[in-house]
Amino acid sequence: MALFSKSKNEKAWQAGNSLPKHVAIIMDGNGRWAKKRGLPRTAGHSAGAETFRKIATYCKNLGMDYLTVYAFSTENWKRPKEEVDAIMQLLEKYLVEAIEKMERDGIRLKILGDTEPLSDKLKALIERTDSISHELSGFQANICLNYGGRDEIIKAARKYAREVSEGRANDIDEKGFAAYMYSDGIPDPDLIIRPSGEIRTSNFLLWQSAYSEFYFTDVLWPDFDEAELDKALEDYAKRSRRYGGV
Ligand code: IPE
Ligand code: IPE
Ligand code: MG
Repeated sequence: MALFSKSKNEKAWQAGNSLPKHVAIIMDGNGRWAKKRGLPRTAGHSAGAETFRKIATYCKNLGMDYLTVYAFSTENWKRPKEEVDAIMQLLEKYLVEAIEKMERDGIRLKILGDTEPLSDKLKALIERTDSISHELSGFQANICLNYGGRDEIIKAARKYAREVSEGRANDIDEKGFAAYMYSDGIPDPDLIIRPSGEIRTSNFLLWQSAYSEFYFTDVLWPDFDEAELDKALEDYAKRSRRYGGV
């Protein structure tokens, strides 16, 4: 009774166990958001970076364990150099600021993806965020950067096969395979959100999304806010996850 009474302001999906532990978001629609306003695409990416800051803080305050966002795919190198450079600069800027505030904000950060082709500056910033994050506990934001689901699987398969051929691993199984992914140690996402009206994964978390719930909305990422996330969480709370069972 009193033990189970909920505050009036609590949203239905916050009651019980219906808040996902891990939400993943494909941050899409920055370019169209800018175009609608007659702005350069890069202005959309800046606005999108702001939305990420806001949503990460909100997820942490709701009590989630992980937020994973898709920031730059292995295919996004196909874009004009100026746009790629602008995105990389925004990421640098974000990491510089995050490093200063991580301890205060209590947000751990992890970059998932192939960091090899990134600039030395970005690589150094990633090393720094890794070492600070190791000292912290609690909420973790994962930023997928130069990430591709197929690339991740191929790289994992290559490493795992080498271990087996050198006699350091016995056989290839699902649990072992997951340990070679960038996401090693991170539970699979419960809910994957894609704004901007596109209904596809675009190579995001192919392995990890096997039993994720999906939520699509037409809202463009820079317009996405706490109320939009609430809608997705409310929808998620109504899903019945069966994992192949009954
Ligand atoms: C997502 O927004 C950001 C990245 C892919 C880096 P887009 O830049 O893809 O925006 P749209 O899809 O063109 O509107
Ligand atoms: C997916 O968006 C990648 C990111 C949001 C980082 P894209 O805009 O690259 O995907 P497509 O090209 O529409 O499939
Ligand atoms: Mg896009």
